[in-house]
This record gives sequence, C-alpha cells and structure tokens, in this order.
Amino acid sequence: MSLARLAFPLLRRLPPEAAHGLALRALELGLVGADALPDDPVLATTCFGLPFANPIGLAAGFDKDARVVDAVLGLGFSLVEVGTITPRPQPGNARPRLFRLEADAAVINRLGFNSGGLRAALPRLGRPRRRRGVVGVNIGANRDSQDRIQDYVDALAAVHPYADYVTVNVSSPNTPGLRALQARAELDALLQALLARRAALGPKPILVKVAPDLDPAEIEAIAEVAVARGIDGLIVANTTVGHRDGLRSAQRGEAGGLSGRPLFLPSTLVLAAFHRLLGGRVPLIGVGGVASGADAYAKIRAGACLVQLYTALVYAGPWVVGRIKADLAALLRRDGFAAVGAAVGATTLS
Ligand SMILES: Cc1cc2nc3c(=O)[nH]c(=O)nc-3n(C[C@H](O)[C@H](O)[C@H](O)COP(=O)(O)O)c2cc1C
Repeated sequence: MSLARLAFPLLRRLPPEAAHGLALRALELGLVGADALPDDPVLATTCFGLPFANPIGLAAGFDKDARVVDAVLGLGFSLVEVGTITPRPQPGNARPRLFRLEADAAVINRLGFNSGGLRAALPRLGRPRRRRGVVGVNIGANRDSQDRIQDYVDALAAVHPYADYVTVNVSSPNTPGLRALQARAELDALLQALLARRAALGPKPILVKVAPDLDPAEIEAIAEVAVARGIDGLIVANTTVGHRDGLRSAQRGEAGGLSGRPLFLPSTLVLAAFHRLLGGRVPLIGVGGVASGADAYAKIRAGACLVQLYTALVYAGPWVVGRIKADLAALLRRDGFAAVGAAVGATTLS
C-alpha cells in the first residue's frame, strides 16, 4: 500500500486548512503515486476547441497558486484549473474559513480569494512542465479593487501566455459584490473589455464561471450575453450560498459557499437549464457534487462536455479519479455511446 493511502485517513483528522496544506505539500514532493494508465479511448473528447484524454478535471480552488500542476495531471485528471488568482496578493478572510461537513459529504468555504497574486503564480505557470493535460487559469478581482474590470483585464494579459484557457470567475460568494458581475449589463461590459484585450493578445478560449444560485431570468440573461459576445464556454457552477435545509452537520450554519453532495442536484439543474437555452452553441463544463462515474455521466447527459470536481477529493482521495473514469467508460458503453461527445445533452431534463 502506498504512503499516500496510509496517510489519507489521517488527513481527515486534521483541521481542514492544515489538511489541504499537507496534501499540497505531499503532491509537491511527489509523495502521491501517479496514475500511469493510459485513458480508455471512449473517454477522449474535445471541448471549446481543445482535446482532452478524458472529461474529468480538477476544479478551481485546490491549487490556487499553481503549485502542483504536473502532480495533479499525474493523478489522472485531464485538466487542472488553477486559481482563483487575483492580480495582487491578498490574505483572504480570517480563519477558520474552511469547514468539513462530514455527515453531508460537503464543504463550506469562505476563503475569500487567498492568493499569492500574479507575481507568485506566473513563474510557476511558466515553468516547463510535462504536458500531460490541459491547464486552465481562473482569474478574479482583488477585494479592495477600485476597478474590477481592469483587474480581470490585467490578469488575462498576464496569464495569457501560460494558460490553455482562462476562466473569468464572477461567482465566488466570498468577495462582496463579485456576483453582481453576473448581471446582464455588468457581464456584458466585463466581457467586452476582456474580448477587446484578447483581440490584441491572440486567440485563447475564455470561459465564464457562474453561480448555482441563479433564477431563470438570470440564467437567460447570462446565456444571451454568452452567445452575443461569443464566449467559448460556461462553467456551471461555483459553490452555493443556499441549500442549507436538510444538512445534518454541526457546521451547517457557517457562512460561505457550500460544495459537495448537496450541490449536485441544484448545480445539475442549472446546467440543464443552460443547455436547454444554448443547445450546444456555448460549451458547458459541469461542476458540483461529482463523486462517482454515475454523477459525471449525469452531468454529461445534462449538457456538460467536461466535468470538474473538488470536494470528492476531500472525502475519497485522489483514487476517486480512476474510479470515476472506469465507471463512466462502462456507463457510456452500456448505453451504446462510442465517445463522450455523443452523450452530451442526451438527457433532456424538464
Ligand atoms: C475550499 C474550496 C475553495 C474553492 N476556491 C475556488 C476558487 O478560488 N475559485 C473558483 O472558481 N472556485 C472555487 N471553488 C469552487 C469549486 O471550484 C467548485 O466550483 C465547487 O466546489 C463545486 O464542486 P465540488 O462540489 O466538486 O467541490 C472552491 C471550492 C472549495 C471547496
């Protein structure tokens, strides 16, 4: 048995932020065994113009400062989204700010974009790496920014040479007012500025990450802006500020964004709503509560061309990636799909 397998149960006994720090350190030191198996060809797919060996990615927030990109890709993810990176370093909110809700297989975080900033991340992003997969960079605005649009534009320009795609995070619940950038006029102005900058920088997929806490009119407005501006993709969704009813853990009342199992259904419904409106015109990445091959398959059938996860790593460890991929391949074959792409949007939820 590997050292990582022996140590994993111990991590769960540590305070969550300490456990996260140790997990990053273990990955940096190469102590977590890599998954060397080639991916099943049925899992290969293409999304927003990029090829992926499988549709399973690591969501933003785990590797905020781009410390363990190669190690994460070595775990079997086809993509890692680093960040959120803010232009300038900032400490984030006071601790404690990360909570495990064990009985609910969930996490609440109010980290608040703790970030080493662009200056810390860029040298790491620029370091030569074993190109085993896709690296997305998720960008945000500093909490005390006087001009949030300028923050995103500056961050886009800085990460552009190193990112395979860039995610515009307008959906963290932990930076006051950030989610207001999802409103029609605000989002349109932000995207206009980013796309103008991209025109000067050169082609690069730009995705927008949205909240799961959107009503139908807000979903429609975002979908319309995404189509009108020709955005390359939407990531659905970030953590939720709702859905506390029914949680059993003592920590359920903590402020912040909820992720993990309780987010699966609400985020999948929002994903399906976007798919219904967009019908494939804007590719979608499905995120929220994915912990099994069946969960990943449900996201794909609801309209996702790729799936990301984070919280499942906390409860099941990095081995969950291999299990999800094997079970997803079996489900695709069972239902007669020759490739992931053929299953995207196969379920029409009403
Ligand atoms: C501790 C933690 C930190 C996160 N930080 C970020 C972040 O910096 N930027 C971001 O876009 N999403 C962040 N997220 C949200 C995840 O990327 C993802 O959208 C969400 O957790 C739902 O997926 P999951 O249920 O698989 O965890 C964070 C999530 C967690 C649990």
